[in-house]
This record gives sequence, structure tokens and C-alpha cells, in this order.
Amino acid sequence: MDSGKVLTAETLAEIDRWVAKYPEGQQQSAVMAALHLAQEQHGWLTSELIEAVADYLDMPGIAVYEVATFYTMYDLEPVGRHKISVCTNISCMLCGSDQIVDHLKQKLNIGFNQTTADGRFTLKEVECLAACGGAPAMMVGKSYHENLTPELIDNLLDGLD
Ligand code: FES
Repeated sequence: MDSGKVLTAETLAEIDRWVAKYPEGQQQSAVMAALHLAQEQHGWLTSELIEAVADYLDMPGIAVYEVATFYTMYDLEPVGRHKISVCTNISCMLCGSDQIVDHLKQKLNIGFNQTTADGRFTLKEVECLAACGGAPAMMVGKSYHENLTPELIDNLLDGLD
């Protein structure tokens, strides 16, 4: 595969920047950053993009798929304009993430890994966001939101386009 046909010149240049941080021959250490960049390029990771990353980093495709499917921040299907990643791990669970999840599902009328019909929101369940001190927590896109309540969620989501 010609990675340069799937990944843009800008994405490849950014991947190169990451590869340069590691010793020569250790380019596979940049795989997580490369997948992030590929995802940013397209909005989600197609098989073609994953294969292109594997090819560019000289890794077996299956090894890159393993990374892409293990971490919840990688999207293997199209997502809505706003990706909501709600934590249900231990601290958040103890602080009421069940209620937060129920509220989100009811408000958006979707389940986990689904997108609203208008394409605005995708709901994902994620592991610890490293925001346990502000549990229950979620991310909307790249922004953290902590100490969540149904009212806070309503205010936040109603203000988004
Ligand atoms: S358990 Fe939810 S942020 Fe850590």
C-alpha cells in the first residue's frame, strides 16, 4: 500500500515528528500518535487508514488493529459532531455514573456506540479518564466535564450546535 495516497502530506509530516522522538528503528513506538493523527485527518479510523499507518511504520497490520481496537479513544466507525465519552469506572461509578449514563441515554435517545439521528452526538462508555477527583466525569470532544449532574449535562449539551 502507498501510505501517501491514504494519509495526507500534513499527517505524514506530523507522524514523522513523532517518529523522530524515538531511537532509530523504533518507529512503531509512534503508533498511538499516528493513529490519533490519522483519526483527526478523517474523523474516524477506516481499515484503509489503519493499514496505511501499519505500512508507514513498518508494522504488521494486525498489531496496529490491536492498538486501534483496545483503546476507546479510537473510533472505528463514523461519529457525530460531538463525541461524549462518559466514564463508568470505579470512582465515577461510586459517585453516580449510572444516573449520568441513564440521563444521557434518555436525553439523546441512543445507547452506547450510537449516534443521534441528527448527527450531533455520539455516546461512548470509557474507562478511567484520570479525572477521578471530579467524578462522575465525561469528555465532550477534547474537553473535560466533572462533578456531573443531570442539570449540568442539560446546560452543556443544549448549548452545543
Ligand atoms: S474513574 Fe472516572 S475518571 Fe477515574
